[in-house]
Amino acid sequence: MHLHKYEKIWLTFGLGSLALFLIIIGFAAFWKGTHPMSHIETIDPQNVEAHESFKPENLGLREVADGKYTVNIVASAFNYDFGTDADGKPVKKIRVPKGSTVLFQITTKDVVHGFQVAGTNVNMMVEPGHVSRLETVMKNAGEFTVVCNEYCGIGHHQMFATVEVFE
Ligand code: CUA
Repeated sequence: MHLHKYEKIWLTFGLGSLALFLIIIGFAAFWKGTHPMSHIETIDPQNVEAHESFKPENLGLREVADGKYTVNIVASAFNYDFGTDADGKPVKKIRVPKGSTVLFQITTKDVVHGFQVAGTNVNMMVEPGHVSRLETVMKNAGEFTVVCNEYCGIGHHQMFATVEVFE
């Protein structure tokens, strides 16, 4: 079989990039341990309260060290449970100072939900049976809307909350 010179060049280029990408994926997955962030820890979706972070009294915002916060959330159709405030009302807005480090920990009791803090780099898929975690530094002040970006049913559009970053 005769291969034209340009065919050889493009075949080499194509196979070369395939090999390069496989090496990059292999390096990331097996050497660096990169994987979807929701697959680190499993949880029983029927009994999320059994997990220390998702006990009703541990939900919501907590300052764990100076300038470091943890936010525990249980998602379900169609709500984000951030716990309750001093009056017993469900928390729909959390406030953190600008520049703080915030660890978001979230799980779901039922179907797949999303957890995106629009305007920040926080964007997680929340899968039943898994704990999703993401730590970020809140660099910009403002009000950021939390939205569910995985279609989860008839009330999908009602799943939202607010993160306020103040100066
Ligand atoms: Cu929850 Cu869409």
